[in-house]
Amino acid sequence: MTQLQAFIEKLHHTYGPMDEGQVASYIPELSKANPDWFGISVVTIDGQVFNVGDTAQKFTIQSISKIFSYGLALEDHGREVLLEKVGVEPTGDPFNSIIRLDEGSHRPYNPMINAGAIATTSLLKGDGSTERLHRLLKMFKRYTGQDVFIDMPTFMSERITGHRNRAMAHLMLNFGMIDKDIDAALDLYFQQCSVMVTNGDLATMAATLANRGKNPITQVQAVNEDYVRDILSIMYTCGMYNRAGEWAYRVGIPAKSGVSGGILAVIPGKAGIATFSPPIDANGNSVRGLQVFEALSQEYNLHMFDLSLGRCNFCI
Ligand code: DON
Repeated sequence: MTQLQAFIEKLHHTYGPMDEGQVASYIPELSKANPDWFGISVVTIDGQVFNVGDTAQKFTIQSISKIFSYGLALEDHGREVLLEKVGVEPTGDPFNSIIRLDEGSHRPYNPMINAGAIATTSLLKGDGSTERLHRLLKMFKRYTGQDVFIDMPTFMSERITGHRNRAMAHLMLNFGMIDKDIDAALDLYFQQCSVMVTNGDLATMAATLANRGKNPITQVQAVNEDYVRDILSIMYTCGMYNRAGEWAYRVGIPAKSGVSGGILAVIPGKAGIATFSPPIDANGNSVRGLQVFEALSQEYNLHMFDLSLGRCNFCI
């Protein structure tokens, strides 16, 4: 067994018994998750795969989808057009905070908070809702390497209860930041959040970003390599919501979390790492996941700004 496989098994054993955090319930369907589910996966850019625990369990991707739809919006419109609609500044606010538009520009602060993600998704090109959804699903397939599906009960659950998101969309419509067809934009946003993945998929998706946008298992280019740096910058500054600063300080690699309990992180030029465990903290980040990443970062010198002499970044 490799040292990395042994190490993730040890982390799984150490943090499995944790009982902190709560399974998200504000989207009723998410509350059905088993709090004991726990998986850790690593995929390297040369295609090695390491898994422990519940890495084949399917769950909805939730906010982790935001980085991928942002990549597609960049491909559709380019940096400057997108920047006019959605900023790139962290807020320090919760992900669902009711809008907080930049006063000067009336833009949502960044594409990782819900308002910014809804605005981003509303910009995706396509002739009608069905084509836009197909473009999104095809994009997810390039990253995961397999067909992806939407979990209907979760989609309906978000759609019925998403009053806060709906209010944000109306406010953005009022400021002229999104198009008038807000119901279609919200549906597409709820659909992208309801895409089913496994923890193994998340690690492959992260490894694709680590590999300049090319899936290291299938060799399919999932996103134009010019935009990978934009996605990673946003992940680094805004990916972990109001813990983004502490994450950057302690773990030091670009990452994104979702309320269903996934976290994916990218070691540029090396590998993708993902964890899945549904209990989350008050910020919306998986509590077991946070522990695992801090331990991995220490053990494998993952922090991007650690320039210590003789340091070997992710040598496995
Ligand atoms: O709109 C929502 O609230 C969810 N579909 C996504 C939220 C989410 O995952 C935020 N993550 N921490």
